[in-house]
Amino acid sequence: MPIIKETNYNLLMKQLQSLIEDEQNLIAILSNTSALLNDNLDQINWVGFYLIDNDELILGPFQGHPACVHIAIGKGVCGTAVAENQTQLVKDVHAFPGHIACDANSKSEIVIPIHVNNDIIGVLDIDAPIKDRFTIEDQQGLENIVQVLEKQLTN
Ligand code: SME
Repeated sequence: MPIIKETNYNLLMKQLQSLIEDEQNLIAILSNTSALLNDNLDQINWVGFYLIDNDELILGPFQGHPACVHIAIGKGVCGTAVAENQTQLVKDVHAFPGHIACDANSKSEIVIPIHVNNDIIGVLDIDAPIKDRFTIEDQQGLENIVQVLEKQLTN
């Protein structure tokens, strides 16, 4: 198991805040957020967004290899996060029933729903090339990052 460099989520929240505070455009905000996370999270191979469109998830801004475009609500880790309205912390993607393998390198994953005005608009999805990459501290830090996004998108 490689040593994973810890992320300073408090600093990252401040950086994200200043990066997006003057922006209203969803695509611009999510694009820069995916780039910021990619620069600051060790041992990941994909980070990005899926957005709800016509009752399914559609690929949004991301960093990483090309990925699946359509994910049905309730399918895969992303669709489950939406259906259950809950973060999915998956230590081993191969043990998750129905996991959708977009990148064969992915071994663990975290997916966090994003809410605007109480509706889920999509998810933040992060994949790692090692098992058990994300801790409960990562989950809390990333949920705080998503809250910064939600606040900006709700304004
Ligand atoms: N693994 C995801 C699909 C998206 S990729 O990881 C980028 C899932 O099971 O929903």
